Formats: sequence, C-alpha cells, structure tokens
Amino acid sequence: MPIKWDQTFSVHNKTIDTHHKHIVHMVNTLEAALHRKTEQTVIPKILSELADYIQYHFSYEEQMFLVTKYPDKEEHLKQHTEFQRYLKRIQTNENAVTGEALLKFLTSWLLNHILQTDKRMVPFLKENKSI
Ligand SMILES: [Fe+2]
Ligand SMILES: [Fe+2]
Repeated sequence: MPIKWDQTFSVHNKTIDTHHKHIVHMVNTLEAALHRKTEQTVIPKILSELADYIQYHFSYEEQMFLVTKYPDKEEHLKQHTEFQRYLKRIQTNENAVTGEALLKFLTSWLLNHILQTDKRMVPFLKENKSI
C-alpha cells in the first residue's frame, strides 16, 4: 500500500515537510515499479535517485541542527548515517534483499524516523520562525 502523507507527519517547517513529501512519493514510485515487475534496470535507477535525494535532505536537516542548536543531534545523525550505509549496501548488492523486504524496510524506517526522530526537532524549529 502506498504511504499517504498527512498532517501528522508535519515537523512545522515548510522545507523539511516538502522534502518528506517528496521522499514518500519516491518510495511510492518504487513500490509501483516493484508491483508492475518493471524492468530490472528501473529499480536501481529509482534507488539511486532516492539515495541522492536522501543525501540532500539529511544535509539540510543537519544544517538545521546547527541553526536551532539542536541538543539531540548525535543520535539523529547516527540514524541518518546508518540508513545511508544500508542504502549503499543495497545499491552495491553487498546486501541482497527482495524488493518486498526492501520496501518494507524503507517504509517502516522512514515513517518511524519522521514520526519519532524528526518530530523531536519540532519545538526547536518552531522557536526559529525565520527558517
Ligand atoms: Fe532526520
Ligand atoms: Fe527527515
């Protein structure tokens, strides 16, 4: 089932919310491709686009750690790094998983990360109205 973005995902920062919507859209695109049993070449392409966008998004959030003087940045950063390592291992086939397992992991990681870890930044983002 595709992920449906709703207000409960909001971190009260327009840029981050826009990024998250785009990531959700990319994961849904991957799901649709897997269900259509699309040509094998399409999936690595979507994964590579996802990894690039994730890099861009994580960098933005990490910049916000500095701007908002976010106190829990170590744990947050650790989660970003581990997720990127996992994506890399999938991309290089070091870690061979089925499409279904990949999708399950991406969906649960993202929802969990946005709803728990990213959301912890909300009070700090709210304090900085200029961003
Ligand atoms: Fe994050
Ligand atoms: Fe995020």
